[in-house]
Amino acid sequence: MEFVTIAVPKGRPYADTVKLLRSAGAAGPELEDEESRALLIECPAQSTRFIIARDSDVPTYVEYGAADLGIVGKNVLMEAEPKVYELLDLKYSVCRFILAAPAGVPAAELLDGSSARRVATKYPRMTEEYFRAKGLQVETIYLHGSIEVAPKVGLADMIVDITETGRTLRENNLVILEDLWTSSMRLIANRASYRLKSDRIGPLVAKLRELTA
Ligand code: PRP
Repeated sequence: MEFVTIAVPKGRPYADTVKLLRSAGAAGPELEDEESRALLIECPAQSTRFIIARDSDVPTYVEYGAADLGIVGKNVLMEAEPKVYELLDLKYSVCRFILAAPAGVPAAELLDGSSARRVATKYPRMTEEYFRAKGLQVETIYLHGSIEVAPKVGLADMIVDITETGRTLRENNLVILEDLWTSSMRLIANRASYRLKSDRIGPLVAKLRELTA
């Protein structure tokens, strides 16, 4: 049987992703609960293989057809807008996009438009779009992670980031100014694979839909 290649993200959603794929019969014991250092894992009995990638790289593997399917947060898709099909909301790793600032700094002051504020984020495109829609000019500072430290050290006045438990915000003395959008994990497909491997992808999508209903 032809192999189906699925890109899955490392990090926080990894264990739930593996659990879901194994419940759906898409992966065997080769895909372990713990992240391994092997970054391409084959499950011969299921005729599947898995690319273990950074979350922001998952859409790239899928868009270029190196992976037929991918599992990735809506947050990543909203920022990257890859040319892929979004097939399913898998409904886990639910988190919120927020605008946050150091506790004690009044929101009115930060958002009065009198001077261009600096906003640190992993999501520059969405951040710029958000502030443009509000009619506020800001300077967006792109960081790859640990966004919450930026206001503490004077790199930025505010941050746009995602929060799940709220712990990172709390421990860095930041408060939410605005709730922006919600995110959860999505199943995405390469556009050509979706047609050419429909006999494999169709049943898997149906099973995942049933498991996440
Ligand atoms: C994400 C996000 C926040 C944190 C929020 O970062 O960017 O920093 O999780 O989670 P919490 O509300 O449960 O505390 P991640 O852990 O992916 O690491 P990063 O800073 O390297 O992006």
